[in-house]
Amino acid sequence: MQIKHFLQFNDLTRDEYEHLFEHTRRIKEQFKAYQTYHPLHDRTLVMIFEKASTRTRLSFEAGMQQLGGSAIYLNTRDSQLGRGESVEDAAQVISRMSDIVMIRTFEQEIIERFAANSRVPVINGLTNEYHPCQIMADIYTYIERHGDIKGKTVAWIGDSNNVCNTWLQAAEVLDFNVHVSTPPGYEVEPERAGLYGTDHYEEFTDPMEAARGADLVTTDVWTSMGFEAENEERKRDFEDWQVDADMMRLAKPDALFMHCLPAHRGEEVAAEVIDGPQSVVWDEAENRLHVQKALMEYLLLGKIN
Ligand code: CP
Ligand code: NVA
Repeated sequence: MQIKHFLQFNDLTRDEYEHLFEHTRRIKEQFKAYQTYHPLHDRTLVMIFEKASTRTRLSFEAGMQQLGGSAIYLNTRDSQLGRGESVEDAAQVISRMSDIVMIRTFEQEIIERFAANSRVPVINGLTNEYHPCQIMADIYTYIERHGDIKGKTVAWIGDSNNVCNTWLQAAEVLDFNVHVSTPPGYEVEPERAGLYGTDHYEEFTDPMEAARGADLVTTDVWTSMGFEAENEERKRDFEDWQVDADMMRLAKPDALFMHCLPAHRGEEVAAEVIDGPQSVVWDEAENRLHVQKALMEYLLLGKIN
């Protein structure tokens, strides 16, 4: 069987996502009913973190255990990865001792080099460019609340970062639209976002206009991990790009608010929005667990009916 990796959102097709979302629904239902489900009995997940994490580590580690397997955590500080062993050599060794690998790292190129030398599936747990597991959970969360996302409008307010790029790719795969508003100088770079074209997104200089009529409004931190040196400058550049109650009022009345977390109340989002009735941020976080369980099972065993 050819190895299937999940390095960016468009590594999977719309059909595959439909299968994964349906399987996620079953896995979540069984989990809530305390039914044992161990399709990955005796399988081992290795998780490599070059950046901090709460949700990604927890959801992958708990998820693998719940599927009957086990998970091993490695970070750059305590392994040879931080001491100059090449990504290629690490991939050869790690993939001989495990069944599946999840990596959180800096440049996308690093995870691609790892995958090219891996005997087992590799999952992107966040790179500077993409965060596909997050958007899979976010879209599943949207579907749970409001059904199919096809044809809907997502407003992205803020930095054109890894999470934004992944929303843009997802729009191409699942056929919805993204209204993006970034401060000048932080615009989308279509090539870096891995887009085929510009058909599925529109850029707005005014964040209020981007939010107008949206089915979902979403944002993320102004400074992503790895860019901390720019923090003060970004705080100034982004101050008019906060999602607040006035902005939410311009979206559809039943619009959802999403944030991948961690959040900074009073910066990219007002407390009244993230803690308000339209916010689904805790469901988003929980759904990381369920969608990633479906994903790991799919990458290792194929479609389950
Ligand atoms: N949203 C997300 O990936 O969170 P962590 O950085 O805590 O993993
Ligand atoms: N854009 C953020 C997401 C964190 C989950 C970052 O890369 O730091």
